[in-house]
Amino acid sequence: MKTLVIVAHPNLEASNWNKSWVKELHKNDDITVHELYNTYPDENINVAKEQQLIEAHDRIIFQFPLYWYSTPPLLKKWFDSVLLYGWAYGPEGTKTAGKEIGVATSTYGTAASYQATGSNRFTLEEILRPIEALAEFISASYLPHFSLNDTSDVTEERLVKSSLDYIQHIKTVKPVVVK
Ligand SMILES: Cc1cc2nc3c(=O)[nH]c(=O)nc-3n(C[C@H](O)[C@H](O)[C@H](O)COP(=O)(O)O)c2cc1C
Repeated sequence: MKTLVIVAHPNLEASNWNKSWVKELHKNDDITVHELYNTYPDENINVAKEQQLIEAHDRIIFQFPLYWYSTPPLLKKWFDSVLLYGWAYGPEGTKTAGKEIGVATSTYGTAASYQATGSNRFTLEEILRPIEALAEFISASYLPHFSLNDTSDVTEERLVKSSLDYIQHIKTVKPVVVK
């Protein structure tokens, strides 16, 4: 199983959580880490190169801080630019079929806030549905997501634990429905 983690953080240097996760990912030879904002500072995505990367991996994790209940804009641009008709979908668009797609995200909101009764009203599972739907559309299996809530509570202990939990998640997570 070859895993690709596509990281979309507009300012990874200033980040606590995503930066710590990336550091931990780099310790694993079987995981390819691809930082979108560092690769494309002008946001000019090389579509052929991105498609080659996807084709070379079985499991793709999109890692990002939650921004307005969604992804940072370069990841949305990546979806729009890379997942093309004739490649990802359509009669001859079979290159993403059978891949596994997952999400790892960090949220300022607490776990309790991401409940029907909480201040954010919706669960993260619900908020991430567009990516689950995207996976379905391109014939990939969607993986249960990984998340870290309450990002303002930064302690060394939490950073270490979440980074180790994240690697464990990536290595063991299984799709609920296999495509
Ligand atoms: C533009 C912007 C929008 C944000 N929107 C949300 C949001 O919708 N929900 C939430 O819980 N946190 C939101 N946050 C907080 C970030 O998710 C949080 O700062 C980030 O996950 C921290 O991770 P980091 O240390 O890797 O930067 C937002 C932050 C910014 C800058």
